[in-house]
Amino acid sequence: MSKNVLALVGYGTIGCGVIEILLKNKDLIQKRTGLELVLKYIVDKDLTTPRNVQYPSAKLTNDYKEALMDEEVNTVIELIGGTGFAYTLIEESLKAGKNVVTANKALLAEKGAPLFKLAQEKSKAIGFEGSVCGGIPIIRTINDSLAGDNIQSVYGIVNGTTNYILTKMLEEKLDFKVALKQAQKLGFAEADPTLDIEGYDAAHKIAILAEIAFNTEIDYQKVYVEGITRLELSDIHNAQELGYVLKLLAIAKLDPDNTVEVRVNPALVPEDNQLASVRNEFNGVLIESSFLTNSLYYGRGAGARPTGTAVIADIIDIAKFNNSSVKTTKRIQFNHYKMKEIGDIESRYYVRFNAFDKSGVLSHITGIFSKYDISIASVIQKERSISDTVPLIMTTHMAKEKNITSALNDIEKLDFTKGRGKLIRIIE
Ligand code: HSE
Repeated sequence: MSKNVLALVGYGTIGCGVIEILLKNKDLIQKRTGLELVLKYIVDKDLTTPRNVQYPSAKLTNDYKEALMDEEVNTVIELIGGTGFAYTLIEESLKAGKNVVTANKALLAEKGAPLFKLAQEKSKAIGFEGSVCGGIPIIRTINDSLAGDNIQSVYGIVNGTTNYILTKMLEEKLDFKVALKQAQKLGFAEADPTLDIEGYDAAHKIAILAEIAFNTEIDYQKVYVEGITRLELSDIHNAQELGYVLKLLAIAKLDPDNTVEVRVNPALVPEDNQLASVRNEFNGVLIESSFLTNSLYYGRGAGARPTGTAVIADIIDIAKFNNSSVKTTKRIQFNHYKMKEIGDIESRYYVRFNAFDKSGVLSHITGIFSKYDISIASVIQKERSISDTVPLIMTTHMAKEKNITSALNDIEKLDFTKGRGKLIRIIE
């Protein structure tokens, strides 16, 4: 039996999930892997708040350095989150010769590069399965299961909070704020829910997935991010009328011109696409690759037990390779793809105008679309009710984003619509 000694830093929700699995599945893990996982330290700055799970033989301390100086400790589990102290902890752990397991998506997406470099220099591993989609083994799938296949695209519903909100708005006609409150109560929204609703949490996750799917460095600052706060209930219902479901999608695509698109935006998903049936707080990731073709990964993307499962899998993986001659950080980069600007992408579009109900409006709008080579696929105009404008909804065939933006600029300048047209991308 090979013994593996661990230090956990961050005795919060996920930390408790990890402890629970270590205790309840100790025998199972031993029988399956031949490994004895022993938690020697639990480090947290708050040692007084009562937790619902304890690991009696571990030393509870607020001094992380004690764990780093202990030669017996093989792996440090970072579950404190954020991009400040977590960075220092991982850096010092690697320098002290420890492997690291983390679920910290913001840190890896924004500041991961020097940490992975350091890990490589020190021949240590950083396990990060828990950083994307909680319990869904998506990192392992891309790194291991698809190691022999070329990935063309990754389309994901990777944020449970926004998926929950959009599901409740569609199915129960709940107000955005009420649905967000429910998500916060259920415990999957971030401490600062702006990260969820403005799309940044999803952006962190898709940047990490794009890096491993395309083996290239992704500059997180260049990821295009659009959240769900500017959507209206009518967009969700118009989408339904057109045969689509509105989702917040995280997209990473390798285009034929060898540029990568990495973006997060609301999108109309055809209702027969597998991602359309990913409801509530669940996550789903659709990968398109050459040999396997389409494959879908689905499950719980947040919470103590699902994310705890991913953390335990990394600990086991590291313990296994630690005893072999293969050392890898599992973030291998040999491509140098450029990131595509949002204006250069091509897509189908849904556009909603609040149009004044008078003669010539539709013909002027279609004339401007034609000027920019935008072909219209459908038009719906609703009858006027109490407002002085009518909703005019158009969908387009594939068009250049630059062109549709220019068309909306031109239309905004004319006296035909109230405000700017609302643009939502459509995926096939
Ligand atoms: N706030 C995140 C979500 C938690 O809603 O998906 C998991 O990263």
